Parts: sequence; C-alpha cells; structure tokens
Amino acid sequence: MDQQQSRGRDVFRSGLGAFAATVGSAVGLGNIWRFPYDTGRGGGAAFVLTYVLCVALVGLPVMVAEHAIGRRMRRNAVHVYESLLPSKGTGTAIGYVGLVAAVLIMAFYTDVAGWVFAYVFKSLGALAHGVALGPADFESLSSGTWEPLLWQAGVLSLASVIIALGVSNGIERVTKMLMPVLFLLLVVCDVRALTLPGSGSGVSYLFKPDLSKLSGPVLLSALGLAFFKLSLGIGAMTTYGSYLPENTRIVPNAARVVLADTAVSLLAGLAIFPALFALGGQPSGGPGLLFITIPLVFSKMPMGGLFTTLFFVLAATATIGAMVSIMEVPVAWFTERTHVSRLRASVVTAAVMFGVGVLATLSRGPVLSGVKIFGKSFFDLFIYLSNLLLPLGGLAITVAAGWLLPQGEFSAEIAKGHVMPGAIHALMGVLVRFLAPVLIVIVLLMSLWGR
Ligand code: PHE
Repeated sequence: MDQQQSRGRDVFRSGLGAFAATVGSAVGLGNIWRFPYDTGRGGGAAFVLTYVLCVALVGLPVMVAEHAIGRRMRRNAVHVYESLLPSKGTGTAIGYVGLVAAVLIMAFYTDVAGWVFAYVFKSLGALAHGVALGPADFESLSSGTWEPLLWQAGVLSLASVIIALGVSNGIERVTKMLMPVLFLLLVVCDVRALTLPGSGSGVSYLFKPDLSKLSGPVLLSALGLAFFKLSLGIGAMTTYGSYLPENTRIVPNAARVVLADTAVSLLAGLAIFPALFALGGQPSGGPGLLFITIPLVFSKMPMGGLFTTLFFVLAATATIGAMVSIMEVPVAWFTERTHVSRLRASVVTAAVMFGVGVLATLSRGPVLSGVKIFGKSFFDLFIYLSNLLLPLGGLAITVAAGWLLPQGEFSAEIAKGHVMPGAIHALMGVLVRFLAPVLIVIVLLMSLWGR
C-alpha cells in the first residue's frame, strides 16, 4: 500500500488518469478565451513565440517543482510550505496567499465560465431561430445582475459536485472523459476555419513573427499567461502532485502536459484567427473577442450557427477540469486540516468563492460598475492581482524545491521509477534553481515598475 493511502488520502489511479487530470487543469479558459485575446493584443506571432519560450523556460520547471514537492510531501499546498520554510509562520502565510489567489481566480473565472455556459444555450437558441448572436447579446448578459449570477452559481455547483465525488472518482474520471471530446471538437472547428478561402493570413498572423512587436509588456503578459495557463503558482499543481502515483515519471509527464496544453492553445488560435482573417474581424478585440467576434465571424460561414454552438460546447468542456483544480487547493487544505468531509469542504469553499465572485460579476452591471479600487473594477482587479500572485507563488515553489528541500530529495523525486539521463537531470536542476526564479524576479520587477 502506498504511503499516501495509509494516510487516508486518495490518489489518481493510473498514469493516464493523472495525465488527463493534469491536462484537464491546465486546459481551460486560458487557451480558448485568454490566449487568443492576449495574442491579438500582443501583435500575433511575436507574442506566441515569447509565450512558448516562457512556457519552456519557466512553466515546465515550475510544474516539475510543484509535482515533485507535492508527491514528496503527500500533503496539501499550505502544509508543504509550513513544513519546508525555516519559519512556520512565514510558511503558513505563503500557503494562505495561494488559497487567496485560488479564491480570486475563481471569482473572475466562474464569471467568464458562466458566460460560456450561457452561450451554449444562447447559440442553440439563435441557431433554432436562424439568427446570429451580436454584441448586444453579450452586453446584456455580462452587464446583467441575476442572469450572470445564476450562471456563476451554476458552474460553481457543477465543479463542487465533481470535487465532492473525490479525487479518483470525480476529478480523474470526469477529466479522462472530457479531454478527448475537447480535442475532437477543436480539430473539427480547425478544419472548418482552415478550409475557408483567405484563411492563410490568419495562419501567418499566428506563426510568422514580426520581432519589432516584442516589448516589455508583451513579455510580461506572456509570462503571466504561462503561469495562468499551466495552473502554476497557487498550489494547484502541488496538490495534484500529491495525488500522483509513485511510478509516474515527473519530468516526461510534465513535458507532455505542457506540450498538450500548448497544442490546445495553438489549435484554438487556428480555429479563431484564420476564420477572423477570412471573414473580416478584429484580432485585438480584448476579453470580449470570444463572445462578440466568434458568433459574428462564424455566422458568415456555411453552417456557422452550428459551429458557434460547437465552439462554446468546447469552451464549456474545457472550463470544468480547470475550475475543479482551482477548488481542489482550498478543499485539500480544508479536509486535511479539519477532517470534514469533501462534500462539506466543497460546499463551504464554493460559498466563499461565490461571495467573492459576486463582486466580479456585478462589477459590469448597474450595481457595482461605479465602484473602482485603484482605478480598476473588481473583475479587472482580481485578474491583475492574480497576475502578480501566480509568479510570486511560482518563485516560492522553485525556491522551496530547489533550495529548501533537503539536498538530493528533489533529484531523487524526479528520478523515481526510471533511469533519467544525466543531462536532463542537470538541466532540470539549473532551470529550477536558477533560471526560472531569476526570470520570474525580472518579470515581477518589470510588472511593478511597468504598469
Ligand atoms: N489553467 C487554467 C486555464 O487555463 C486556469 C487555472 C489557473 C487553473 C490557476 C488552476 C490554477 O483555464
């Protein structure tokens, strides 16, 4: 019996299940909502190139560090910091920052996920009536009061049910089913977009970098996106690491997750930009890109209504595994600290997340649109804070894994279960101990001065 089972912890049952759950956490609104609009704002391929470099040089090592430390300690993220840091108080504080970040992310995430689920039904309705959804539909949904709140409560309840079912019965089973569906739907949308006349300029926009577009802010948003995309810096991957089977090879598994996730982003880009260029849309549409441009652009192509619905089904599918992993961070901590049931822990967590989420959701409507903190609405503030907190959390985890874990334990953990080539071992050491933390610090300093 595994050490973790003797402690009464559930784990992912198979390597494939662990992989699916981890990809399920990484893939989400980040790929389908944020990657396209960040790419559009960052000028296309130059942003894509920077993003891929951030993923390889910072994202991969931070994920390896989170998985290794999580599996080594077999505990929730707060406990990991408490036991590794020389001062327990500082460790607890860092762990709690992760919990706060999870609540902040979930606050705006469930707002946007609510729009996505609403759009599945709205686009079906539009399809039935033979009309296309327009900007006014998005406006009225996103600046409403009860409608977006109900959708937000709905998606939170869905995530809570999966969480309450448990790690292997809930998270692992559901994500194993959803991930292949997601890939399939994406490929269908890609084929549709890429066979439109004039789609070639959308492909060049994504893959032919104009290096003059590179700048400090582009680098910053690329690194922020890499953290958000790969679910790093709040303890989600540490927690999932603590559920990894002993025989999972941490580095190849993380590399596959990173590759799969980046592939999904590029596939999403290949569904959106070629269609956008072929049919005349604006790549720099901002957060509304998905909801305003996609239905409009898709409506101009044959069977566009059907593909719009398909696209939102795909986006909705992708949000589930990600929301579950954000919730799992506080739930794992709560159940291990107080020994309450997962059901109770997920209800309490969902209630707290909803309480904060209401602020994000209402910040576009009549109730809270006048309230600004540091000049930002709650929605924008939560995104901004999470952009700072994720890299900070990533920095803490690389320091913990590379410097605070007793010498040799990190290496032993990543080499467990297989013979690892010496070069990869050495490379991981350099990335986790030096390169990733240094790059994070540089970008964090730029973000403090730059914005
Ligand atoms: N990676 C998820 C996405 O791209 C979001 C997420 C962030 C999940 C942080 C967990 C932790 O949608």
